[in-house]
Amino acid sequence: MNIVIAGGSGGIGGAFVEALAKRPEVDKIIATCNRHSSALDHPKVTWHRLDLTDEDAIRDWAAEVDEIDWLINAAGILHTRAHGPEKSIRQIDPAFFLENISINALPVLLLAKHLHGKFRHGRPAVFATVSAKVGSIEDNRLGGWISYRASKAALNMSIKTLAIEWRRTLPNVALVALHPGTTDTALSKPFQRNVPHGQLFTPEYSVNCMLSVLENLTPAHSGEFLAFDGERLPW
Ligand SMILES: NC(=O)c1ccc[n+]([C@@H]2O[C@H](COP(=O)([O-])OP(=O)(O)OC[C@H]3O[C@@H](n4cnc5c(N)ncnc54)[C@H](OP(=O)(O)O)[C@@H]3O)[C@@H](O)[C@H]2O)c1
Repeated sequence: MNIVIAGGSGGIGGAFVEALAKRPEVDKIIATCNRHSSALDHPKVTWHRLDLTDEDAIRDWAAEVDEIDWLINAAGILHTRAHGPEKSIRQIDPAFFLENISINALPVLLLAKHLHGKFRHGRPAVFATVSAKVGSIEDNRLGGWISYRASKAALNMSIKTLAIEWRRTLPNVALVALHPGTTDTALSKPFQRNVPHGQLFTPEYSVNCMLSVLENLTPAHSGEFLAFDGERLPW
């Protein structure tokens, strides 16, 4: 089984790489990192430095990738050094909004565009992205975090639209968006104070839950938004 983990240097992405490398059915993992390197050195894992917003870089890298059984995109941002997520429309900054769109929504489109041929082997396959429940339009009761929410809603729409296209062209692939639950990583660190006791997951726990969801997918699930516990979330 060949696996691609995009954003493998992150808290959640790194836990995916580590958990999958231990599995006997996994032959090879291609993992990408951007600004940070990963400390995980494993004979099954090959690391590539890749900016997932750079189409030329993705095209060149994709040309070297073999057939893919599972692809998991775990890249994303919620805040940068200069900006936190907005509490009010008064805080909207065009550059930060576009940065959210470019890192949270664009990469799956570029990955799908340049890797679709690698799923043409006919075996059941998975194309999954880590999204976030706050990207659900229907579930939005609190407001705030408008750039992040909008970028995750765009990501979700991309998965749904791609699932419809690939049902015709790549019917062996299940495309899904995943909600990992609030997970203890650099991304959530500044916002962990209000998380109720017992609801802040370790990356290992969150990833083990999401792996159980992915293992049970069939192409019939393509186009779904699923939480770590398998619950189907509203778009
Ligand atoms: N943690 C949570 O509570 C939580 C909750 C809901 C959803 N999520 C989602 O889960 C995903 C993973 O987040 P995390 O918590 O693991 O955060 P994290 O530890 O900050 O990891 C973020 C990852 O995104 C990568 N990345 C950022 N910009 C990139 C770019 N331009 N090109 C390529 N890679 C880029 C980072 O690579 P480098 O570090 O190498 O630059 C890193 O691998 C995100 O999509 C996030 O929205 C997380």
